[in-house]
Amino acid sequence: MHPITDLDVLEPVASAPDVPAGVDLPRTTPDVAGAGGRRVYIETYGCQMNVSDSELVASILGAEGYGLAASDADADVVLINTCAIREKAEDRVRGRLAHFRARKMGSRPDLTIGVLGCMAERLRTKLLEEERLVDVVAGPDAYRDLPRLLRSAAETGQAAVNVQLSRDETYADLAPVRYDSNGVGAFVSIMRGCDNMCSFCVVPFTRGRERSRPADSILDEVRLLIDAGFREVTVLGQNVNSYRAEAEGHSVDFAELLYRISLLSPEMRIRYSTSHPKDCSDELLHVHRERPTVCNFIHLPVQHGSTEVLRRMRRTYAREEYLALIERARGIVPGLALSTDIIAGFCGETESEHQETLSLMRAIEYDHAFTFAYSERPATYAARKYTDDVPDEVKKRRLTEIIGLQSEASLKRHRARVGRREMVLVEGPSRRDPAQLAGRTDGNHMVVFDAPAGVAKGDYVDVEITGCTSATLFGRASAAAA
Ligand code: SAH
Ligand code: SF4
Ligand code: F3S
Repeated sequence: MHPITDLDVLEPVASAPDVPAGVDLPRTTPDVAGAGGRRVYIETYGCQMNVSDSELVASILGAEGYGLAASDADADVVLINTCAIREKAEDRVRGRLAHFRARKMGSRPDLTIGVLGCMAERLRTKLLEEERLVDVVAGPDAYRDLPRLLRSAAETGQAAVNVQLSRDETYADLAPVRYDSNGVGAFVSIMRGCDNMCSFCVVPFTRGRERSRPADSILDEVRLLIDAGFREVTVLGQNVNSYRAEAEGHSVDFAELLYRISLLSPEMRIRYSTSHPKDCSDELLHVHRERPTVCNFIHLPVQHGSTEVLRRMRRTYAREEYLALIERARGIVPGLALSTDIIAGFCGETESEHQETLSLMRAIEYDHAFTFAYSERPATYAARKYTDDVPDEVKKRRLTEIIGLQSEASLKRHRARVGRREMVLVEGPSRRDPAQLAGRTDGNHMVVFDAPAGVAKGDYVDVEITGCTSATLFGRASAAAA
């Protein structure tokens, strides 16, 4: 979901090692035989939470005897796990649905088509009635019900729908099938939903109220990952650092949870995504500082550089407060790497407000940024109260300036690492040159490097950084360190 991009469909994802963040590809299922014969192909759009949810769906359907299909052509059931964050993301899904619908109308009348995830609730009426595109619709909290929905659609020939959001569903007891993993890193979902109601954002509507998963079930899942040989865990939530759950008679917050995860293994790196500045406590920063496996990297979306725009966005902090937080974070955690999300062209954004985003970026010099043109989402506070009045070409020009400035900052931050040694967790062969390996530093920088024979996926290696672009570090490894 690593931080990812300017492209409108995907958010930060640790997919293949040196694929640039935000690659516009859906994640798909591998080939896995099932007991029952029917095979399901899941195509996943959106953020890491959706990737993680698709792994849960694979687990729920696997327990019912379904197999997984690596290609939609081999599948009896096609499920699209959808994203509603921007209009383009939705358009893309509609295109795919029309494609599958055409197949069903032609050569595959037995094909079952389902929509999961964040478009389910809002578009169910349209998808079912006006466009008659789908057989099954399941919202993010209804995945346990999928086997029944699929049965019902097959038996009745009628569409089956469950888009009920829950106040307590966390799927805590389910073990995801980690098919989207490289065997080195895995996602663990620790909370769901969001109560923040940023004015531009559809997530509170698509995902419902915030709820945290019990700490023990998270720790158990990480133990299983450690036993299975995983070396990196990314704990996930829409607003991950507002995690809070009762355990053993007291309330465990996010800082304590990370601390407890970090005690489980000296070799398991820990990252998280995505966090809100309001919940970035000093305790959490001290966990970064004190626990060597808690990476010195935070994705801390700012969204905008102007206090006035932040107020309209309902972000709950001012520019100065955010800058002060970054200063505190860098003071507590030496060498901290930072990434962010930025929106260009929000309602009413003036040229001078846009300049404030640029000046904030210059002041902070993020290692990476995911940048987006504002896209109005129905039902949000912004859609109801503000006018989407920045013309498209102005949004685009401002976004281009933001991207250009970030490339300079990324290059500068990368150049500062040339000549240094970095501990890299090997994720596999480089996509560009399979003779080289690729992996990430503690600060989440992608490194492509030459390595002596014997260095393999899952090893930690000491890499001398010899060069860079704004997207990638290059280097040379000595022998595996662990
Ligand atoms: N929970 C995360 C964000 C999840 S959405 C957080 O608060 O940080 C990922 C990013 O998409 C957001 O940070 C924001 O930058 C962007 N985004 C959300 N709604 C958007 C919209 N309506 N138009 C453009 N970008 C949007
Ligand atoms: Fe959306 Fe804001 Fe919640 Fe993030 S914190 S998911 S941007 S409402
Ligand atoms: Fe998209 Fe839903 Fe994630 S709207 S970004 S898939 S929470």
